[in-house]
Amino acid sequence: MNFEERLVDPSFDYSVCKKVLDRCGRDKSKIIAVLQGIQKHYRYLPREVFPYISNEMDLPEAKIYGIATFYENFSLEPKGKYVIKVCDGTACHVRKSIPILDRIRTELRLADGEITTGDMLFTVETVSCLGACSLSPVVMVDDDVYAAMTPDKAAELIAALRMGAAS
Ligand code: FES
Repeated sequence: MNFEERLVDPSFDYSVCKKVLDRCGRDKSKIIAVLQGIQKHYRYLPREVFPYISNEMDLPEAKIYGIATFYENFSLEPKGKYVIKVCDGTACHVRKSIPILDRIRTELRLADGEITTGDMLFTVETVSCLGACSLSPVVMVDDDVYAAMTPDKAAELIAALRMGAAS
């Protein structure tokens, strides 16, 4: 199967990629911005976009894949509507971030090794520092920072997010 044939995928709409490329430009130096733009739309980088970007930007697909896997902000797996980042850096860890993480995972009924709920509503990740150590322990949901968290506050936050998603 050649490259052009692979692009003919009726189940995948490349219009988002095209829009991002039109906005960011097809200059190779803009590859990170292009990947960020595409991820912003899908909340991850679908496998199908790699050959398309490769063709449009005249960059080897392996190089684009290498960039996407090098930076931890890029994801090749679909993420939930809400991405919950539980900080487990030193300042948060000593203020009991792990019980918060455990409570969140229990509330979301995530099995061992699972990070995204089956309904694609929540993804739970740990991070090493969110740069808000004085507010520790800290949880971040998308761009919102929640300070001085406790397991009970985390459970309330999840309930609020669920209600928000349902309304
Ligand atoms: S260690 Fe958690 S915000 Fe810095």
